[in-house]
Amino acid sequence: MSLAGKTAIVTGSGQGLGLAYARELARQGASVVVNDVDAAAAEAAVATITADGGSAVAVVAPVGSTETADALVAAALENFGRLDILVTNAGILRDTVLWKMSDDDFDRVVNVHLRGTFTCARAAATHFREAGHGGRIICIGSPTGQRGTFGQTNYAAAKAGIVGMARTWALELKKAEVTVNTVIPVAATGMTATVPYFAAAVEADAAGEPMPAFFRHDLGFGTADDVAGLIAYLASDAAAGVTGQAIGIGGDRVQIWSHPEPVATEYRDGGWTYEALVDDFAGLFGDRLQSIGESFPPLPDELRREPAAS
Ligand SMILES: NC(=O)c1ccc[n+]([C@@H]2O[C@H](COP(=O)([O-])OP(=O)(O)OC[C@H]3O[C@@H](n4cnc5c(N)ncnc54)[C@H](O)[C@@H]3O)[C@@H](O)[C@H]2O)c1
Repeated sequence: MSLAGKTAIVTGSGQGLGLAYARELARQGASVVVNDVDAAAAEAAVATITADGGSAVAVVAPVGSTETADALVAAALENFGRLDILVTNAGILRDTVLWKMSDDDFDRVVNVHLRGTFTCARAAATHFREAGHGGRIICIGSPTGQRGTFGQTNYAAAKAGIVGMARTWALELKKAEVTVNTVIPVAATGMTATVPYFAAAVEADAAGEPMPAFFRHDLGFGTADDVAGLIAYLASDAAAGVTGQAIGIGGDRVQIWSHPEPVATEYRDGGWTYEALVDDFAGLFGDRLQSIGESFPPLPDELRREPAAS
C-alpha cells in the first residue's frame, strides 16, 4: 500500500467527496483524521473506515479558525504520531446574485473555504517544516473559481483565491519538499444533487446504476469515488514531482488547468494613453477577449429531467 505509515487530515470528510477521499487514503494505508461539523457523519465515517480495516479518528469542529487547524494537526500527532497529508475539502454554499448577497453570505463562505484552507495549510506547513520529512497539501478548488458562475460571488472568490494560495505555497514550500496542488473536482454529492442539469446522472447513481456516458465522458461528471484516486495519487511518493498544479477530475476525465497567462500582447512607444486605447483596443484585441463561465452542451432529450413549464 503506497501510503502505509502515513497520516492524513481530510476536512469536511463526514460525507460527499471528503468521505470518498478519506476512505481511499485509508485504503492506500494512511491513518486518517476525519473532520466535520456534523458529529454523527464524522463518527459514521470513522466507523466505515475502521470496518474496512483502516485507522481513523474524528475531530468535530468547524474549519476556519486557527484553533480548529491546530486541533487537527494535534489529533494527527497524538493519535498516529505524525502528519504527512492535508486535504482541505470542507465547504458550504450560500448562492445568490451580487446585489442580493449579504455580508454574512460572503463571510461564511470565505471563512470555511478560503480562511479554512489558509489556517489548516499554515498549521500543516509549520509542522512539515519542523519535522523535516516533506509533506502533501491538497487544496480543493472548483470550476467556479476558474471561470466564474452566475450567483456564486462568495464561492468564486474563495475558490479562485485557493488556487492562488496553492501556487504561492508551492513556491514557498518547495525547499521543504512539500508539494501543494489544487484539485478541481466535479461529482454527484449533496452540493450538486439539486442542479436540474445533472438530475439524470444523480438519479442513476442513487439507483446504483452507472451514470450515462454523456455525463461521465462529455461533462466529466461522475461519483465522488471517481475523484478519490487523484487525491491518493497526489498524496503518494509517485507524485513527488507534481506541485503548484490545478488538476481537474470527474467521471472518466482528468485535466490539467492552465495557469493565467497573457494571451495577447501589444506594445506602443510611450505607453498606452486613453486616446490610443480608444483608437486601437478593439482592432488589436476585439477577437481575443476571453470567455467567461462554463458552457454546457444541450442535454440529449432522454437525459432531460427539468419539470415541464406550466
Ligand atoms: N460536488 C462537486 O461537484 C464539487 C465541485 C467543485 C468543488 N467541490 C468542492 O468539494 C468540496 C466537498 O464538496 P461536496 O460536494 O462533497 O459537499 P458536501 O456538502 O457533500 O460535503 C461538505 C462537507 O463539509 C462539511 N463542512 C461544512 N462546513 C464545515 C466546516 N466549517 N468545518 C468542517 N466541515 C464542514 C459538511 O458538513 C459536509 O460534510 C467542497 O470544498 C466543494 O466546494 C465540489
